[in-house]
Amino acid sequence: MTTRSTRSTDIDPDAASRKGSLATLRGLAPFLRPYRRQFVLAGIALLFAAGATLAIPAAFKKMIDLGFGAAAGAGATSGIEHVDATFAALFGVAAVLAVATAARFYMVSWLGERVTADIRSAVYRHVVHQSPAFFETTRTGEVLSRLTTDTTLIQAVVGTSISLALRNTLLFSGGLVMLFVTSPRLTSIILGLLVLVVLPIVLFGRRVRKLSRDSQDRIADASAVAGEILNAMPTVQAFTREGHEAGRFGASVDSAFATAIRRIRARATLTMLAIVLVFGAIVFVLWLGAHAVLAGTMTGGDLGQFILYAGIVAGSVGALSEVMGDAQRAAGATERLLELLAARSSIQDPLQPKALPARTANGARVTLDQVTFAYPSRLDSASLSHLSLDIRPGETVAVVGPSGAGKTTLFQLLLRFYDPQAGSIALDGVDLRDLALHTLRGAVGIVPQDTVIFSSSALENIRYGRPEASDEEVVAAARLAAAHEFIERLPEGYASFLGERGVRLSGGQRQRIAIARALLKNPPLLLLDEATSALDAESERLVQRALEAAMVGRTTIIIAHRLATVQRADRIVVLDEGRIVESGTHAELVALGGVYANLAALQFQTHAPVAA
Ligand SMILES: Nc1ncnc2c1ncn2[C@@H]1O[C@H](COP(=O)(O)OP(=O)(O)OP(=O)(O)O)[C@@H](O)[C@H]1O
Ligand SMILES: [Mg+2]
Repeated sequence: MTTRSTRSTDIDPDAASRKGSLATLRGLAPFLRPYRRQFVLAGIALLFAAGATLAIPAAFKKMIDLGFGAAAGAGATSGIEHVDATFAALFGVAAVLAVATAARFYMVSWLGERVTADIRSAVYRHVVHQSPAFFETTRTGEVLSRLTTDTTLIQAVVGTSISLALRNTLLFSGGLVMLFVTSPRLTSIILGLLVLVVLPIVLFGRRVRKLSRDSQDRIADASAVAGEILNAMPTVQAFTREGHEAGRFGASVDSAFATAIRRIRARATLTMLAIVLVFGAIVFVLWLGAHAVLAGTMTGGDLGQFILYAGIVAGSVGALSEVMGDAQRAAGATERLLELLAARSSIQDPLQPKALPARTANGARVTLDQVTFAYPSRLDSASLSHLSLDIRPGETVAVVGPSGAGKTTLFQLLLRFYDPQAGSIALDGVDLRDLALHTLRGAVGIVPQDTVIFSSSALENIRYGRPEASDEEVVAAARLAAAHEFIERLPEGYASFLGERGVRLSGGQRQRIAIARALLKNPPLLLLDEATSALDAESERLVQRALEAAMVGRTTIIIAHRLATVQRADRIVVLDEGRIVESGTHAELVALGGVYANLAALQFQTHAPVAA
């Protein structure tokens, strides 16, 4: 089941207590701070626009009372003059409004786009620095969804909601002041009623926020499902599970829809509530006002002005409740993004990194001392236990053993993707935990068990090992890895695009690209995990020869199931259930007659008659 997203264990404990409603949005402050100047400019534009809006009803009152009122009473000419002047003023106000609104729109949209871009980059940068333990519990599709849909919600808030909120708060308070000036009695009544209006709005807002967070989670779930399946299409089709997978995604999307609808329903209710309550209050008060005009205690112009200001105030309350809904949604999204940002990688650079001793002609020394390690997700079973191994500079050590023995795990620890729970590992006498990660990983070249090819050209794929390498160096590395010939035969040679995840290459070709990439890096310690497993006998012989040449001047640890590839190693270490059970040269181990001798007997005498 993939309904509930699993969270990394390293998440900031504060995140749970930060469940306060809109306070979550405060987490965005560090992203807004660099743009103080733009905020101030937007604020100024906003003030002008709100001021202009608030001036319009006053102009209307003048027009009604002085223009029409005077026309009915005294001379008609002064009435016309007033009307002309008022209309000219009205147009002036509109012009200010237009310019200020455009300026505000521009500044605020700019801020929204900029801040969202910054958040996306920050989250991505943070995620790519996480250790593999993070990716064991977090699905990549989910991270992608956070990066795209969650940030879009934040963009809506920074890009429009903040400005709408400010504008409407200004209009609301300005309108209220003007209402007071027009008629203190009626306004007091309105205010009393407003308190009754705000309470249900706040309560509903909270519910919207929670539902919004759920809704974003469901979208992330759907993305995670899709991401995983799209990466495994050939397997899905080979097992004819397309219909099933489409259905699974459909169910995931429907679940997101259902959650969204609950959110939308809550929000619709919120909007209805706000409008009914606010307009109810206003209509009631206007009714009182109409009576006052009829009784002669209020002028027609006053009532007109009052109605317009009341309209502004009511409109701003309506807009504010909409904005609240948006802000609540963004708060839900922000919460998740902040959780991602708060995730601490369990593998950190040391505060004071040590340097590696200068590289020697032979390569690096690797020392494992009583290393015990269990994967974080399976702490009860150790994948390596009390492993001690001293590898001399320049030595070639082969690691063999049954599947699941812990061979790949050993490499993961050498690259410090995980720290052992007990014991220590040292490179050239320096504990791995005392080395900066880029120093350590810069000294290690690896050809992993599952080769990774990026969707770019053959040239760039090999150059990934050392970005500053020249084209000639790349070709030399490819020759060494017996990859040159097949690359030359590709439609565009080294410039050929290899397809996403290298789908346009055979398994053996991918492996040779990976070997070339590691050789180009020219590291003092080379790790080969089943580096030749996908090659036919002829290519294996070629690559084997190439690797032997490449092993000169460096320490090499090679994992292989096929013993033919390990016979010539200086030392063979037999690993079983995370322990070293035998170690020695091929000849010594065969003579010993233990696990290795058995394996060797099986592999080298496949045609021997089976004992009757
Ligand atoms: N990320 C992981 N989380 C939890 N357990 C893991 C993880 N990776 C490997 N294991 C477990 O650790 C043990 C050792 O795995 P490892 O990959 O080191 O085996 P291996 O010797 O490389 O096997 P193979 O020859 O099949 O590649 C296995 O029992 C495996 O199930
Ligand atoms: Mg392995």
